[in-house]
Amino acid sequence: MHVLSLNSGDQIPGLGLGTWKSAPGTVAAAVKEAIGCGYRHIDCAPIYGNEAEVGQALGEVLQAGQVSRNDLWITSKLWNNAHAPELVEPALRKTLADLQLEYLDLFLIHWPVAFAPGVLFAQKPEEFIPLADQPIIETWGALETCKEKGLVRNIGVCNFSQDKLITLCDLARVQPAMNQIELHPYLQQEEMVALCAERSILLTAYSPLGSGDRPKAMKKQEEPILLDNPTITEIAAQNKITPAQVLLAWGLTRGTVVIPKSTNPERIRENLAASEIRLDAQSMEAIARIDLGFRYVDGAFFCGKGSPYSLDFLWGNK
Ligand code: A2P
Repeated sequence: MHVLSLNSGDQIPGLGLGTWKSAPGTVAAAVKEAIGCGYRHIDCAPIYGNEAEVGQALGEVLQAGQVSRNDLWITSKLWNNAHAPELVEPALRKTLADLQLEYLDLFLIHWPVAFAPGVLFAQKPEEFIPLADQPIIETWGALETCKEKGLVRNIGVCNFSQDKLITLCDLARVQPAMNQIELHPYLQQEEMVALCAERSILLTAYSPLGSGDRPKAMKKQEEPILLDNPTITEIAAQNKITPAQVLLAWGLTRGTVVIPKSTNPERIRENLAASEIRLDAQSMEAIARIDLGFRYVDGAFFCGKGSPYSLDFLWGNK
């Protein structure tokens, strides 16, 4: 399995199984199938609503001795309603209990967005907390403590713009090991890739296949379909691989981690096979030309009327 080195010296498998949108009732089978065929990296989060079921699958494979805990890389995330420093460790402990684990390999702040404690998904203005009132650096300090206690081996963030990442790096005692962001040929984020390379922060590409199974409410009208892009399908045909494998190999060739989601046994295997595929320079150049700067997951669901958050706050580098 291809691995990448984090700034802590730990090594993360370059391809992992995504579990966002994997329905309860299907995700345990997907995790068992994935580990059975050679995946060693599972990406989780409490907001996906399926961590306890992922944990059942992990518990079974570990108890059966199919793999040892050391061989697995498990990532999870801190949800927006637990940014208050005193809520971080309890939220982590709930995730660990659900996943049936004693430690995580990587623990990430899920969004630079804070909700009031207990609010699962903020809708009304009073259910949000502006970051000015709950600064990320305080939340980060609690993640650093979790790392020092051995509850997590590495800490990082998700959905951080370049400016937010630089500010965090300037203030942090422990540098972030990872920024998990949306990355695919329609959202290539070259400047972010360069910044993270310079600072020894790895990137994980979420929605590497274009996230076609997002709920309707999260879709825009007439979205471009990444898997159908003619440059991608041509490169697939030339190399006798599938379009999904081209997209995953593209992410791996750039030195990013990729976490395709699937609950289908054939596609789970097809995606893993991409971890050994690299694209040639000509294919990489062709794909560089199809960037649209298009976000499938733009965070607009945090930016409704009365919210202190906006798309400009999330992604603008000001
Ligand atoms: P399924 O779970 O039925 O396989 P993303 O990782 O970008 O969020 O994309 C997930 C979507 O891509 C899901 O709809 C998933 O469906 C689908 N998918 C996963 N692997 C493949 C593949 N190899 N070919 C085509 N679609 C795939």
